[in-house]
Amino acid sequence: MSGTLYIIGTGPGDPQLLTLKAVNIFASCPVIIAPHGARNGSSTALAIVSEAVSLADKTVVELHFPMKKIRSGHEPAPEILAAWRHAAEQALYYLDQDQNVCFPTLGDPAIYSTGYYLYETICGIRDDVAVEFVPGVAAMSSCSAALATPICLGDEMVAVIPATFSDDRLRSVLEHFDTIVLMKVHRVMDRIVELLKNADLMDHAVLVEKAGTAGERTCAELDKLSEAPHYYSTIIVRKNPSTVRTLIN
Ligand SMILES: C[S@@+](CC[C@H](N)C(=O)[O-])C[C@H]1O[C@@H](n2cnc3c(N)ncnc32)[C@H](O)[C@@H]1O
Repeated sequence: MSGTLYIIGTGPGDPQLLTLKAVNIFASCPVIIAPHGARNGSSTALAIVSEAVSLADKTVVELHFPMKKIRSGHEPAPEILAAWRHAAEQALYYLDQDQNVCFPTLGDPAIYSTGYYLYETICGIRDDVAVEFVPGVAAMSSCSAALATPICLGDEMVAVIPATFSDDRLRSVLEHFDTIVLMKVHRVMDRIVELLKNADLMDHAVLVEKAGTAGERTCAELDKLSEAPHYYSTIIVRKNPSTVRTLIN
């Protein structure tokens, strides 16, 4: 085997946030294996790549990765394991033919990404696979930019968590960190609003939907949203005001 598997962050949506390195690797790679979450859906990561690189001469394989809760230390559902294994076998098929393979993943591979599940699965099957990770712009960075608000400064502590965690874990994180980045908020808005109200943090929370895309929307009045936000939504809870601005004025 001599093909290399590239696991590449595509950024959160704006193709201009693809790194030069990502674009160069996608452009030269003959095979792209792209994940999508909905059974009959399409890959957002692949759509981002397609705006910057022609896919015309490439082998493109889109694979369904079920969106189900995964808890560290617990075995995932059989359908999830089967999807990871299938993706790993597909990648190995092309790598064994000496072809490089790209796996685009939304945002950055380091943050709640299927990229590492694919990597771990491949390493479990074979130990001779060349894999390279290429970082991308994380969604929270794009949300921070949309709000012109830092995620952390000075001695502040940050937590990045899915909003689907239990109330107890969320309460604890809301209490102990200066900035809390809540991901996957779309299905649990009522619960999050309640927790933020109880922690007296409603005035510190802003939702960013589809950051960095034409559909970008921000909302600071979370209890006034008339419908559930899109899956691509993140809430940033920042407790501290800007000390610099206060000092200067
Ligand atoms: C499976 S996680 C992927 C995170 C990604 N790997 C990253 O680095 O940001 C999916 C979550 O990322 C966030 N997200 C992804 N794209 C976004 C965008 N354009 N705007 C706001 N949030 C986004 C949402 O919270 C969404 O539920």
